[in-house]
Amino acid sequence: MTPLTTERLEIRNFSVDDAPALREIILQYQASEHAAYDHVWPTSVDEIRDVAEWFASGDAFLTVCLRASGQMIGYVALNPVEGRDHQSRGFAQVCDLGYCFNFDHHGRGYATEACQAVIGRAFDELGADRVTAGTAAANAPSCSLLARLGFRRLEERTASFRSAADGTPIEFLAYSFALDRADWIGASTPY
Ligand SMILES: CC(C)(COP(=O)(O)OP(=O)(O)OC[C@H]1O[C@@H](n2cnc3c(N)ncnc32)[C@H](O)[C@@H]1OP(=O)(O)O)[C@@H](O)C(=O)NCCC(=O)NCCS
Repeated sequence: MTPLTTERLEIRNFSVDDAPALREIILQYQASEHAAYDHVWPTSVDEIRDVAEWFASGDAFLTVCLRASGQMIGYVALNPVEGRDHQSRGFAQVCDLGYCFNFDHHGRGYATEACQAVIGRAFDELGADRVTAGTAAANAPSCSLLARLGFRRLEERTASFRSAADGTPIEFLAYSFALDRADWIGASTPY
């Protein structure tokens, strides 16, 4: 896909050369308190190279780089899924948003800036009716990011993606969020 450019960022397709920077991000994430609420990620050099290769094979996973230096500081995922439109009872085009940023670059608005650009593409170019996202209630930075982007909370449920060392499932409260095209366009209107 054509790269997206924002004030401070370039958002482009992955390449295999992004594997070392991707690995740093995944190692940080897996060591963080929020990892307990996600699937276990592979972490070896070879495995991450395979992940980068897979990310590079399509447009769903995008690298976020600083325009000033070219440094990769995170990734945003936008996976098309088909969802049911409850109002028309037909099917709506839905994209699911995911993200992970290098922990040395948190707290500067980069995730907000990158996600805004990717969501804009989902609505303007990909014809999405709705963008969804899911996160643990305990993942405050992720919940705040979605709120900043204009998502509204839809449902909560108990989820589990991994087990403790003794095999006990790690259960947590999971929130699902959605941002509809009309709300996005409304939010973009300068009046
Ligand atoms: C979720 C995640 C991307 C959020 O990162 P973040 O740094 O909080 O988000 P942003 O980059 O948008 O930065 C926003 C913060 O920067 C501040 N900021 C500083 N300069 C800014 C600027 N120029 N523009 C906007 N915000 C700015 C904001 O005030 C905000 O701070 P606050 O959270 O204290 O209110 C990050 O925590 C992460 O990568 N986590 C690991 C992966 C993860 O948990 N993914 C979700 C799994 S479901």
